[in-house]
Amino acid sequence: THVVTEQCVNCKFAECVTYCPVACFREAGTFLVIDPEECIDCGNCVEACPADAIYPEEELPPELVPALEWNARLSAELPLATTRVEPLPDGEGWLGRSGKWSALPA
Ligand code: F3S
Repeated sequence: THVVTEQCVNCKFAECVTYCPVACFREAGTFLVIDPEECIDCGNCVEACPADAIYPEEELPPELVPALEWNARLSAELPLATTRVEPLPDGEGWLGRSGKWSALPA
């Protein structure tokens, strides 16, 4: 599977959804996640994301491995992000910041 990591949080540029050939993105408010049950590993979203937020599972840096669990758990609860998701208005302002997961509720 591919995995959305913390660089998506508060950015949510939503380019990824338009390049996804299957319905694998889920809407989490300030970010998106990928449903590992649906992802076909095409990799289109990796190039599409301006925040470099998406990795193939096998290339996740060690500090981002917890995102695997986030994506799987939240995907089971969240609605599909099928149509054009609205990018967040201050997405650019959050680009590249670190520790964004820690600002999220547990
Ligand atoms: Fe997030 Fe990048 Fe998509 S910032 S919503 S993973 S284009």
